Amino acid sequence: MIHLALFAFVLGVCSHPLEDHGSSSPGGIPVKLSVKRIVARADNLTSNVVDAGSAKWEAQRVLNKYALASQFLQGIGLNPNAHPETGYPIFNDTAAWLNYTSSHGPTRNVTRLLSTDAVDDSTLTPGIPGLTTMPMTDYNAAGYDMLYYGPLQFGTPGQALTVDVDTGSADLWVPSNCGTCTLPQYKTKSSSTYKSTGHKFTANYGIGQAGGKIVHDVVSMKTLRVQNQAFGAVNYESDNFYEYPNSGLMGLAFGVISTIGQPTFFENILKSQQLEFALFGIHLTRNQVDGSEVCFGCIDFTKTADRVAWFPLKSKTYWTIAMDGIASDADHFHSAELIAAIDTGTSMVYLPDDVTTNFYAMIPDSRSAEMEYGAGYYVFPCSAKLSISLSFSGQKFEIRTDDFNMGPILNNGEECLGGIVSLGDGFPSNLAIIGDIFLKSWYSVYDYTGARVGLAPSVNNT
Ligand SMILES: *[C@@H]1O[C@H](CO)[C@@H](O)[C@H](O)[C@H]1NC(C)=O
Ligand SMILES: *[C@@H]1O[C@H](CO)[C@@H](O)[C@H](O)[C@H]1NC(C)=O
Ligand SMILES: *[C@@H]1O[C@H](CO)[C@@H](O)[C@H](O)[C@H]1NC(C)=O
Ligand SMILES: *[C@@H]1O[C@H](CO)[C@@H](O)[C@H](O)[C@H]1NC(C)=O
Repeated sequence: MIHLALFAFVLGVCSHPLEDHGSSSPGGIPVKLSVKRIVARADNLTSNVVDAGSAKWEAQRVLNKYALASQFLQGIGLNPNAHPETGYPIFNDTAAWLNYTSSHGPTRNVTRLLSTDAVDDSTLTPGIPGLTTMPMTDYNAAGYDMLYYGPLQFGTPGQALTVDVDTGSADLWVPSNCGTCTLPQYKTKSSSTYKSTGHKFTANYGIGQAGGKIVHDVVSMKTLRVQNQAFGAVNYESDNFYEYPNSGLMGLAFGVISTIGQPTFFENILKSQQLEFALFGIHLTRNQVDGSEVCFGCIDFTKTADRVAWFPLKSKTYWTIAMDGIASDADHFHSAELIAAIDTGTSMVYLPDDVTTNFYAMIPDSRSAEMEYGAGYYVFPCSAKLSISLSFSGQKFEIRTDDFNMGPILNNGEECLGGIVSLGDGFPSNLAIIGDIFLKSWYSVYDYTGARVGLAPSVNNT
């Protein structure tokens, strides 16, 4: 319930519309413009059409977040791998499923699970210690599921702050001593366990930039506790962050790509042997404020509708797996050899230019929406009959048309903005970024020991 209350509170605070404030942040610190401004102003669009400002924010955030992807995927500039999974057994989901059904009846019946299982920790593979769930709130604005955030405690005594849960980056940061920040902040003076390091912290997320210093303190989530977590205490943020209800961000990709050069919160939990298995599962809701969660050390079978399919990692940097193509419907498939980063912190799906062009070429009467939204965006006939799927190891995984459709762009409702967007120049030519429009249909599992990503059909679609 705390999340609902917080949600209502921050909506009140953050009511100003997305605006372009040019190139300086409120504190006068210059904001580095993104690699390429891909989304133009679309002032003439009225409020019942898809919000160009949101599209702009998202695209710019992705561009900066993946600015170093090319180097990282080649193994350049990485921090040492702390191998936090050392000593953990491989997770056997058949055994876990048998454990689960032994206490929930022999027949998998999602309807029954949904109607009878309250989602709390006690319903998850009972009897096994070393797992815990972090509830997440779906920030649903203007019909979009914009981001998913959950609670963490910082310092001693614990200060409750919320963080965007992001499998596409590896830093943890929250505002602190930030005069212009409007949301709850981390108060170093109120924590008896706070330690300063004297090192600077900088993170770029789109035209949004956040900076401050690296600190160490206790960070915890329910029973999980890290004594000496390194994180960014951010004393300035560019305006763009003020639209959002979460105070900070928690990266759950590999610490090897963290700007701090330190293990992530999850990796520190693993290193201190607090979990049964070295993995986490993520459920994202569709259009529903409550019900999303991270399952630390577990897969929550109440959120899945069938078995998990596993895909080996291509790189332990982002959570990357091999992708071999994209279909627009049952008869149209475009093959491409891609490396796909599974990223809860990105709303849409980003593909290389040529793949995006080929994808939209399979949808009659679709066209580039560069004029309205900037390079990379496409529109398609709202009435198009689509059956979009991404192919991993030859297996097809659907993106629902209502998730792909970002909404009409013109008042006549004939053309809609597509949620598959081109990444543009400056990125590895085979990089795909797989965000929430996909993950709302697929429960995702991030497994350190098995060096793999799992995908299982989400209960959202049942
Ligand atoms: C907005 O629309 C009007 C009328 O349709 C047009 O004259 C004007 O140039 C448009 N403005 C922009 C910024 O596109
Ligand atoms: C996984 O667990 C099942 C059920 O207990 C068992 O039959 C299977 O051999 C296990 N697989 C591995 C690879 O250990
Ligand atoms: C299944 O249950 C047993 C006994 O509680 C436990 O030791 C084992 O780790 C569980 N396996 C999985 C994969 O959850
Ligand atoms: C699943 O459970 C629901 C509600 O209890 C029931 O109506 C339905 O028949 C069950 N389906 C199967 C396949 O057992």
